Amino acid sequence: MAGLIPNDFIEQLLDRTDIIEVIGNRIDLKKKGKDHWACCPFHQENSPSFSVNANKQFYYCFGCGASGTAVKFLQEYENLSFVEAIEELARMAGQDVPREEVSRESQQRQQQRRTLHDLMGSCADYFTHQLYQHPNAQQVQQYILSRGLTEETVRTFGIGFAPAGWDNLIQHYRSDKTNQELLTTGMLTQNEQGRTYDRFRNRLMFPIRDIKGRVIAFGGRVMSADEKPKYLNSPETPIFHKGSELYGLYEARKALKDFDNIIIVEGYMDVVALAQHKVRNAVATLGTATSTTHIQKLFKHTQELVFCFDGDNAGRRAAERALANCLSEIKDGYQVRFLFLPEGEDPDTIVQQEGFDGFMHRVKQAQSCSDFLFQHLQTQADISRLDGRAKLASLARGWIEKAPEGIFKQLLYKQLSDLIGLSSEQIIENYRVEKPDIAPPPEPESNPSNVAPAYPYHGETSTQHYSPEQQQPAQRHTNNRLGVRIGMVHRTLAWLIRYPELVLNIDVESLKLLPENADNQLLVRVVELLLSAPKKDLYSAFDYLCQHNLRAALSPIAESDYLWLEAHNEQQRDEKEFAKLELEKLISGLIHKAPDQEYEKLAERVRTLDPSLTDTEKQRYRELLAQKKRK
Ligand code: CTP
Ligand code: MN
Repeated sequence: MAGLIPNDFIEQLLDRTDIIEVIGNRIDLKKKGKDHWACCPFHQENSPSFSVNANKQFYYCFGCGASGTAVKFLQEYENLSFVEAIEELARMAGQDVPREEVSRESQQRQQQRRTLHDLMGSCADYFTHQLYQHPNAQQVQQYILSRGLTEETVRTFGIGFAPAGWDNLIQHYRSDKTNQELLTTGMLTQNEQGRTYDRFRNRLMFPIRDIKGRVIAFGGRVMSADEKPKYLNSPETPIFHKGSELYGLYEARKALKDFDNIIIVEGYMDVVALAQHKVRNAVATLGTATSTTHIQKLFKHTQELVFCFDGDNAGRRAAERALANCLSEIKDGYQVRFLFLPEGEDPDTIVQQEGFDGFMHRVKQAQSCSDFLFQHLQTQADISRLDGRAKLASLARGWIEKAPEGIFKQLLYKQLSDLIGLSSEQIIENYRVEKPDIAPPPEPESNPSNVAPAYPYHGETSTQHYSPEQQQPAQRHTNNRLGVRIGMVHRTLAWLIRYPELVLNIDVESLKLLPENADNQLLVRVVELLLSAPKKDLYSAFDYLCQHNLRAALSPIAESDYLWLEAHNEQQRDEKEFAKLELEKLISGLIHKAPDQEYEKLAERVRTLDPSLTDTEKQRYRELLAQKKRK
């Protein structure tokens, strides 16, 4: 029985581990400057902004903020648990992982989970066996055929048959201990007299697998129209929590290495029929509304979700719920879209009629999240009227405020502002946030407290705590390439972020006198932020600035050479000293250039007889002209 991994061992293993080797074995790293670089494996990009630092034994992506140690990398990249990541590092180091003695209870809890998983796997085997061997197998095969499923699809999804009768499983296992476990996993149920009997009788069985492929529950469908309920699902159990599981996610991941997106549909049959038509990236919630937990889970595998609903009222309502639960998760770079099917159809029927191409064509045309939001809001407020526009503004604020700070939120405000003809600032100032009037989705049932964690690990390591911002991928940038030349302000910023303590040498007041443009304002903002919270290194400085919503503004720097270029300083040995000189040069350049820029602008307006030129501006023009003449 495996126990805890001793802390000492983990520490010593981490000491011996080289992050460059761990990551370099998996993705192509190139050394540039002090760091190693690659295109980030955690978000899509064309130019490398993923850096690995050997001194700090730490990786950091300037594009999406992914960061951590070798263990965290393995966990994320290979989708491993902490223990599995440690085991992998030990394997690389040629060591065995020692285990400590474990307490009896935790041993028992672990044993229980293991046996419950094994038992569910064995039930799935029993059901697939019945699909071929049972005397009534012919009828079931007929039903499967009538639903258009092939042998291959049935096998991929492990579909089986629970025969009619009250005690098939009981007779199959014939053990009190197993009966108890069958009750715990919900395969048996108990009546008021305490009699136990099979929960699933005469049903087509869909095993629900967790992300590792272990069977944790079942959904069972009747095979004739007069039986009820149409679908029966396993109840919540120690190994199954509806609110966080998704049908088909394991199968999708197994079939596809990369997803452009994941399509979320409503039913088992939808997932299965889509997969059979080669739409292998569909998953379904299990008869529950899509929860925030679901969405967080899916966003670990893709950056775009497409919700697919029926076009009827129930579908719309379900979509509104999904929207309410996902807005808070749409960080920059992530997307959610909505696809409504014609009334009376579902993905199963559509893909049977229209095939892969037809269905994918619809997916391509799915509505953006913001369009769906504003369309929905306009059913509640008539924007051809003044009071309707006011209503829309406050309704919309309630929704928009759910979105995390970032470009997506700004775009929502922009769209609102275009709709009602007020600026975002005016809207925020004048309209209260009105709570979206939508029935709150049922909370997923919480885990019973007696459930043991999946792995007995020393879980709370420093690798596991990250601010949300650090995990937030940025929107994709396509403009800047490596090696591109960037302007003086950005170069100044690059040196500053590389050596954030140099900010102390900068006179922010003189920067405020620079002509007002977006670049100069960014510079002042960065200087002020770094002065208010001194940072010691590049990573914490960059991260801190991103936390203040500057990720997009700083992206030209993150994507340029300047953050990592080794200083071309044959004379100076100390790079920081060199940085300091560069900064001084750049800043004095900016300040000296400033009057020229201001002069050129004013001169142009004087030349073109701009009627909006004020007396003060004319006066300033004459001063600058005089200065130029003196030079
Ligand atoms: N569902 C459920 N319990 C029910 C009915 C439905 O849990 N009594 C869930 C199932 O996950 C089902 C989904 O809701 O897959 C969608 O149900 P529905 O639209 O009624 O069925 P379809 O998916 O269209 O199933 P089929 O095509 O087999 O009729
Ligand atoms: Mn259907």
